Amino acid sequence: MDVRTFWLAGRPATGDSELTVTNPHDGREVGRHSVPTDAQVEEAIAAAHAVADQAAALPVHVRAEALAHVSRRIEERADEIARLITAENGKPIFWARGEVTRAVATFRFAAEETRRWSGEAQRLDTEPAAAGRLAYVSRVPYGPVLAITPFNFPLNLVAHKVAPAIAVGAPVIVKPAPATPLSSLLLGELLAETDLPAGMFSVLPVPNERAAGLVQDARLPVVSFTGSAPVGYAIADQVPRKHVTLELGGNAAAVVLADADLDWAAQRIALYSNYQGGQSCIAVQRVIVEQPVHDAFVERLVPAVEGLVTGDPADEKTQVGPLVSEAAAERVEQWVNEAVAAGAEVLAGGIREGTSYTPTVLAGVPHDAKVAREEVFGPVMILQPAASVDDAYAMVNDSKYGLQAGVFTRSLDAAFLANRELKVGGVVVGDVPSYRADQMPYGGVKDSGIGREGLRSAMTDYTYEKVMVLTGLPL
Ligand code: SIN
Repeated sequence: MDVRTFWLAGRPATGDSELTVTNPHDGREVGRHSVPTDAQVEEAIAAAHAVADQAAALPVHVRAEALAHVSRRIEERADEIARLITAENGKPIFWARGEVTRAVATFRFAAEETRRWSGEAQRLDTEPAAAGRLAYVSRVPYGPVLAITPFNFPLNLVAHKVAPAIAVGAPVIVKPAPATPLSSLLLGELLAETDLPAGMFSVLPVPNERAAGLVQDARLPVVSFTGSAPVGYAIADQVPRKHVTLELGGNAAAVVLADADLDWAAQRIALYSNYQGGQSCIAVQRVIVEQPVHDAFVERLVPAVEGLVTGDPADEKTQVGPLVSEAAAERVEQWVNEAVAAGAEVLAGGIREGTSYTPTVLAGVPHDAKVAREEVFGPVMILQPAASVDDAYAMVNDSKYGLQAGVFTRSLDAAFLANRELKVGGVVVGDVPSYRADQMPYGGVKDSGIGREGLRSAMTDYTYEKVMVLTGLPL
């Protein structure tokens, strides 16, 4: 098998060592890639720094065309890319195709947003002393972005960092997750087909232990990280003077109120607790059900969970595949076993086979169990009855995390109350918390992170406001 090159300042390069990527489903080798040396990492940082002014001054049509090109090329190579995602991540091909479709849109939205990214005029002649004065307020990139990306969406969560960087004219260095670097290396191939200047992007598949040097380098003033809360906050603590964006974890809640469509809620919750083996920060983990419909809902939920098609992720019919590694599946098993030992009841699932864990429903979980308090990142949901709407919303907020919440209700009052009361970055009414449209602001409060993604939000995040005052104008 060929050894894949990495991307150093827009060019393919090889280092002096290699790493192998394996398929979580069957352990087979998916590919090997070359690993950058320390000198090559330094070269990439120096190139990003050197090109920063030129990048910020790139005409909009150049940035927009580069982004549109990548969007088109992902679409053209969609099948190959989806298969690569499935092979390296273990995500069922159905979900991998969905991720590819989203990445096409993510780059397309970035191309569109960069064309609209014009700043605004602000009249200053609001006071007599400022007659004839006008401010032009634009946004300027802080400088090169270090994008540290996770394994669970190896293409689209890379796109969510790379596309807005290019859109605002900021060079970007990607440090992909060691388990799934191949999709971002392929993305590098598409970026290399564009007219972006050398140094504008690098993809450096270095092990996590070597990320600290990149994080601490002052020539990369923005660090955008997606991953676990402990790692994210350790990064933020290391570089208090940098602009840090953290997209961290969650233990997302879906609330089912008494007026909900129970069949719809059960189908959606069953699927989105388990999609990608539950390895999404907004997978449904806590299911909070208003008491009057609790039993009727559970009667629908359990068969829906048991009916999910598990197995080979390359099979078009598979809905739930393996976790990213055996260690990940073992941790989930351990957390479920701990909850059961403390009194929880298994209504479905609860069995591990290698890297796979069966879609699991738990009831009667003690308040302090890890499956209730922490982020499971596996195909496990816990049922929690609520005495009232207020009680349900208080239970959603009883978490150190606050990324997104879903509320199944037909009541406008209950929806607006949720929007007012829930301490989360996003409330989805009538669907699971796992819903995400790539253009909308996405991010958390509390331990779920700092900052927002979504194209326009990330573009704002990578830039600062700059004001130019014009004087003596005939306004
Ligand atoms: C995440 O796991 O935070 C990303 C979810 C998504 O993009 O759908």
